[in-house]
Amino acid sequence: MGRKFCVGGNWKCNGTLEEVKKIISILNAGDVPSSDVVEVVVSPPFVFLPLVKSELRPDFHVAAQNCWVKKGGAFTGEISAEMLVNLGIPWVIIGHSERRALLGETNEFVAEKVAYALSKGLKVIACVGETLEQREAGSTMDVVAAQTKAIADKISDWSNVVIAYEPVWAIGTGKVATPAQAQEVHAALRSWLSDNVSAEVAESTRILYGGSVSGANCKVLAAQPDVDGFLVGGASLKPEFIDIIKAAT
Ligand code: G3H
Repeated sequence: MGRKFCVGGNWKCNGTLEEVKKIISILNAGDVPSSDVVEVVVSPPFVFLPLVKSELRPDFHVAAQNCWVKKGGAFTGEISAEMLVNLGIPWVIIGHSERRALLGETNEFVAEKVAYALSKGLKVIACVGETLEQREAGSTMDVVAAQTKAIADKISDWSNVVIAYEPVWAIGTGKVATPAQAQEVHAALRSWLSDNVSAEVAESTRILYGGSVSGANCKVLAAQPDVDGFLVGGASLKPEFIDIIKAAT
């Protein structure tokens, strides 16, 4: 079976109650391909998760933007995987570059989180990607391979993992990767999975592109054979998110 196109909307730390309700109504009214063709996952800030889950159309799914690395307890300010499961939130984004850079999340810590979230039954969008300096130094693949290897070292079942390749230099900058740049890294990541995990995992694992995806550039990116969808930031807060979902067809 082919890889189903997947579009994630990462709202990051944005939104008032009124704005969130407006986004929900835009999404609910959106005319998009069926869920047989595209899987849509929107990721609001934690505080809006119950509202979004209850008001959002049932063919769209909800993700948290992070979760704690192990069972909950005395970890002030954290949200556990168990809590997400308890609320019926099926997905979580882990290892976003903003958390890696601003909060010091290492490859190993991210991998532990991925493994723990999977063990509790969550589906994971695991983010990888290089900085501009790393790209210019020619180490893009070394960086994303090391990030992916840390995860591969801690999990054995990849069926609930989606990888999001998000070059840091493309995030929120308007400097989207060219289709060729995205395809090159996606193909290399798939090849890495084939060599280091298994051919089956390489073939079945979806690799999303993230970084300045818009309604204007999504079609050419989606046409790349190893681009299986998107993780969208800024544009996921706007009506053009519907156009990006439509890039699945
Ligand atoms: O998780 C989403 C990415 O960070 C992309 O953000 O679409 O605003 O560049 P962006």
